[in-house]
Amino acid sequence: MRHLAIAAASLALGFGLAACKAEPGKGGGGGGAAAGPVKIGVAGPITGGQAKNGQDLKEGSLLAVEEWNAKGGVLGRTVELVIRDDEALDKNATTVAQELVNAGVVGVVGHFNSGCTIPASEKYHEAGIVTITPASTNTYVTDRKYADVFRVCGRDDQQGRTAAYYVSDVLRAKRVAVFDDKTSYGKGLADECAKNLEGRVEVVIREGFDATERNFRPYLTKLKDANVDVWYFGGIYEQAAPMLIQASQLGIKAPMMSGDGVHGYQADFIDKVGAAANGTLTTFPDTTANPGYAEFVAKYRARFDAEPGPYAIYSYASAHILLEGVKAAGAADGPKVAAAIHAGTFQTPLGPIAFDDRGDVKALDYYKVWVIRDGKHVLSGPK
Ligand code: ALA
Repeated sequence: MRHLAIAAASLALGFGLAACKAEPGKGGGGGGAAAGPVKIGVAGPITGGQAKNGQDLKEGSLLAVEEWNAKGGVLGRTVELVIRDDEALDKNATTVAQELVNAGVVGVVGHFNSGCTIPASEKYHEAGIVTITPASTNTYVTDRKYADVFRVCGRDDQQGRTAAYYVSDVLRAKRVAVFDDKTSYGKGLADECAKNLEGRVEVVIREGFDATERNFRPYLTKLKDANVDVWYFGGIYEQAAPMLIQASQLGIKAPMMSGDGVHGYQADFIDKVGAAANGTLTTFPDTTANPGYAEFVAKYRARFDAEPGPYAIYSYASAHILLEGVKAAGAADGPKVAAAIHAGTFQTPLGPIAFDDRGDVKALDYYKVWVIRDGKHVLSGPK
C-alpha cells in the first residue's frame, strides 16, 4: 500500500502520520485547544485496476480542501488530507483504517468500494471518526444506522430495482443471465436485480466469479448457449471491459446491463472496449442535470488537466460536507461533526444534500438507465 499525504495545496510523498493519536470518541484529536491542521482522511483504490476511481476520490477531495484552505481553512486551522491506498481490496481496508485512526483524522472521505467501506467504517465508528463515502452503494453501509456513517451516492436496492424493471418492463426480456464479481458491491447489486426480476423474467444463469478473473470465456460460452435477451453484471469496469471484448469475439449479441461500477469511464472503459461497448446499459444518476455540474467540471479540468470520472463530483461534495460539518460543530470532534452533518442541508454541485437517519441522502430513486451509443453514455429513459 502506498502512503500519501497532502498538506494544503502541495502533493508530497510521506507517511502522513499525525503528531498525536486520536482518542477514542475524539476523532481529529478533539476540538478545544488543538493546534495544527485539521486532518481529513481519503481512502480508496489509489493504485491498481481501479486507480481511476482512486484518482477521482483523491482529486475531488483535494479540490474541495484547496478551496477551504484558500479561504483560511476551517476553525482557523489549515486542512490537511491524509491519503491511503486500499487498492480496492477488502483485506487492506482495516489496516488502512487503523492508519487513519492513528493519524488523528476527524473524518474520512471513502472508502470507494463497499467491500472496503463496510469493514473500515467499523474501525472509524469505534474511534468516533466520521465516514462519508462518495461511492459505496451496498445497502449494509448505512443499514447499520451508525450515526457517524454517511453516503452521498445512492443505494443498490434502488439501482438494482431500476435495472430489473427496465429489463422486464422496457426491454420486455424473457430470459436473463445475472453475473457478479463476488464482492459486497457486485454480489449485493446483482442479488437486488435478481430479486426484482423474480416472477417477471426467467433468470436462466446466476453465477459469480472472482474480482481478479479476466478470462470470461467459460461463462460467456454458457451465456451464448443460454440464448438470453440481456445479461446483467454486478461489478466494476476493470472486468466489464475484457468481458465485453470477449463477448463480442464469441458473437454474443445480447446487451450487457450493469450499475454505477461500469458507468462513466470514458477513457478507461468505453474507449478501451471500442465498438463492442455500444448497446451496454448502465444505471447512474444524471449528475449533469444539476446546475453546479458544469462549474465543477470546469474547475476540475483547470486544476488537474484531466477529465473527472463519475465519482469525482461525489468526492468533492463529500469533502465539502465533512468540512461544513466541522465548521458547524465548532470543533474537529467526530461525534459533534456527525451530529452537525445530520442536522444540516449542504449546497453541493450535486444539488442540496441532507441525510436521513440512516445516513443516506434524502433524494430517493434517482437512478436513470443509460445506454452506450456511438461510444457515449446517453439517457435511455426513466426506469
Ligand atoms: N458502488 C460501488 C461500490 O459500492 C463502487 O463498491
